[in-house]
Amino acid sequence: MYSRKSLLDHWERLLLASGVDSPRLSAQVLLAHILGISRLDMLLDSNSPVEEIARKHMELLGARRAKGEPVAYLTGSKEFYGLDFEVSPQVLIPRPETELILDHMRTALDENACLTALDIGTGSGALGVSCAMLFLCFRVVAVDISFEALKIARRNAEAHDVAARISFIQGDLVQALRISSFDVVMANLPYVPLNTKNTLSPEVLCHEPHGALFSGFDGLDCYRALAESMAGRMKAGALLWCEIDCSQGAAMTELFSASSKSVQILKDYAGHDRVAAVVF
Ligand SMILES: C[S@@+](CC[C@H](N)C(=O)[O-])C[C@H]1O[C@@H](n2cnc3c(N)ncnc32)[C@H](O)[C@@H]1O
Repeated sequence: MYSRKSLLDHWERLLLASGVDSPRLSAQVLLAHILGISRLDMLLDSNSPVEEIARKHMELLGARRAKGEPVAYLTGSKEFYGLDFEVSPQVLIPRPETELILDHMRTALDENACLTALDIGTGSGALGVSCAMLFLCFRVVAVDISFEALKIARRNAEAHDVAARISFIQGDLVQALRISSFDVVMANLPYVPLNTKNTLSPEVLCHEPHGALFSGFDGLDCYRALAESMAGRMKAGALLWCEIDCSQGAAMTELFSASSKSVQILKDYAGHDRVAAVVF
């Protein structure tokens, strides 16, 4: 019978040979998920034997990981801003850089404020649900063009007990909404420029939904449409944060500057332009 350690070593070797990212971490996260315990608890007791049923389950998930499936889709969950989010191949796996939008919101806004927030392109609900958790008086509207994504976002809101303060709407950007009623808007819309498609890892390109990644040749079709729908319709002082590609700062400034008081391009921790912050 395998011990936890010997099974992890075995799968680390196999995953390394298959060329996937983070083979050791992948093996650990998958086995902890199968055992139903935290990674730390698993590693603290690494000599424990692994039951045959768990070994077989690891065989199945490990083989899928070796073919490049993201760990988060295999476990069905991903941590974002300290919260667990259900994910499936219908939604983008929430990324750590998206947390920056929430950091900036926390700096700019009083945590006790009672505002109305909009999360456009909510996906798993990462931004909208976290925002409702951070700002206990906020009411949030979460929009996505994908009905399947909205079902997952709603389950995440229910899991974190904030569903009563979030409305979920299927729609194209802000078309179905009275945009002038929002104080705060978060948008992590698809923005990958098509000419950088080949720089994406096969893990992203072959498994994550293309409707969550791409938006026209320069990646800006969604943000162009958003800027057009917001022009002249936002309430004075409303705030918008958009996640962008590092190449899009100047274009975003141009898109939003005519209809706003200010546009600031904020950097991520790697020093790349990552968020456009607009004040209307
Ligand atoms: C990059 S993902 C972001 C998901 C989530 N906000 C996050 O940060 O993890 C973009 C999301 O926008 C949605 N989307 C794409 N085009 C849209 C549109 N025209 N209107 C509304 N949502 C759209 C996609 O379905 C996808 O869920």
